[in-house]
Amino acid sequence: MPFSVTISSFSLLTNPTTRPHHRTTVLRPKIPLQNRSQLTIKSSIDNKKPPSTKPTSWVSPDWLTKLTRSLTLGQNDDSNIPIASAELDDVSELLGGALFLPLFRWMNLYGPIYRLAAGPRNFVIVSDPAIAKHVLKNYGKYGKGLVAEVSEFLFGSGFAIAEGPLWTARRRAVVPSLHKKYLSVIVDRVFCRCAERMVEKLLPDAISGSAVNMEAKFSQLTLDVIGLALFNYNFDSLTTDSPVIDAIKALCKFIPRQIKAENAVSLIRQTVEELIAKCREIVESEGERINEDEYVNDRDPSILRFLLASREEVSSVQLRDDLLSMLVAGHETTGSVLTWTAYLLSKDPSSLEKAHEEVDRVLGGRSPTYEDMKNLKFLTRCITESLRLYPHPPVLIRRAQVADVLPGNYKVNAGQDIMISVYNIHHSSEVWDRAEEFDPERFDLEGPIPNETNTDFRFIPFSGGPRKCVGDQFALLEATITLGYLYRTSRSS
Ligand code: HEM
Repeated sequence: MPFSVTISSFSLLTNPTTRPHHRTTVLRPKIPLQNRSQLTIKSSIDNKKPPSTKPTSWVSPDWLTKLTRSLTLGQNDDSNIPIASAELDDVSELLGGALFLPLFRWMNLYGPIYRLAAGPRNFVIVSDPAIAKHVLKNYGKYGKGLVAEVSEFLFGSGFAIAEGPLWTARRRAVVPSLHKKYLSVIVDRVFCRCAERMVEKLLPDAISGSAVNMEAKFSQLTLDVIGLALFNYNFDSLTTDSPVIDAIKALCKFIPRQIKAENAVSLIRQTVEELIAKCREIVESEGERINEDEYVNDRDPSILRFLLASREEVSSVQLRDDLLSMLVAGHETTGSVLTWTAYLLSKDPSSLEKAHEEVDRVLGGRSPTYEDMKNLKFLTRCITESLRLYPHPPVLIRRAQVADVLPGNYKVNAGQDIMISVYNIHHSSEVWDRAEEFDPERFDLEGPIPNETNTDFRFIPFSGGPRKCVGDQFALLEATITLGYLYRTSRSS
């Protein structure tokens, strides 16, 4: 007897800067529970409510724009870059507000590159793939700038914000840990187990028709996944709460100035230091050493174990900061794409049906494997299309290290802060046909998975160039496996 249950209350969005208003989600098992378990997530956003026509931002009012212009640009601005005029209305929400919305509005007014005067600094906002490609690929000329400054309190010298030789050395040390064999082991040992546990936990709510905040569920899942994958540590946040989990939640809301954040950082650092010490002891006592290219320790396949066994010269503090960088970089981002993909599919019954059909055809009720990824083509495209529409982070920040001329003959001085609006590039009607539509098949299913290279920087959710995300394959696999579990209609006992 099919039953439909309202789980509900999708407080959707993960990305605080892109949070739309009230959403509701329904999980609807379509077949009897004993055969279980196609869970269909339905959203009940208040469709009648139009999105706010008054986007808010952290940008200074008009008079401040004028003042900033004269202070930071002087009279002889020969950059060719138009200056956006920020109005008083734009002040109402400061940094942390829906920044991407006014950036999009100004793109439509001023074009694919404009300057924004924002208090003591001015930013060049880029919404053009060719300029984005130039900035991202020329890493030597463009550093991380502001983003490194504001997140140093958390990442320390972690390689997500490090620059120069330290970044080169640490990236070179970490990237090999994410090899194919590691990913295939992690699919089975971590992604599948965590996804299965999440689905188990959702079932009672599906039966009773209770509301479930899916954004929170996906965030718990991705925290459990990244903890196991990085340090073989089970946060078990799907089941329990703990001070460390609270600390990570607080940090992911990114509130650097608050005391709470300081306490959270100390607690997380201490936890990671203890994990490193314990793992180092085991590696030493066993005399473990990496002896093949795709090395995985069978008992502990974590990245931490790989890095210690690789015997790279690295201090515990550096290792801690690198792992913390990955914890933060890989947690909310993947939670966000899961939330948005589930939401978009809930609003598009025909795509949802296709996803269900594909999952059942490919998996036939069994657990997914690494190899299944290449056959779950439609589901993967749903994920990439969701990354196009709702990229997290929606902007990338850089600072020019030297004077440069951007494609289109726009001049920037050394020290210029630049914001590449990934959201604008992904939503621009100059770049995409039917840019606002969710169309998973806009990329050929038989073609390669879209990335920055095969789209010539029109699709850059993972950035591009030397500082591109190191976890893109990891994240796509995790999202596909998780949704595969959520959308399959049956399973082997
Ligand atoms: C859907 C999920 C994810 C998205 C959308 C995403 C996006 C990004 C972006 C846009 C950057 C580059 C930022 C810039 O250019 O300034 C980045 C960097 C990074 N990401 Fe991801 N990421 C995701 C998942 C992950 C995961 C799962 C991990 C770890 C396993 C990870 C680890 C990192 C690290 C360490 C960096 C810094 C790389 C460097 O600076 O050399 N990310 N990510």
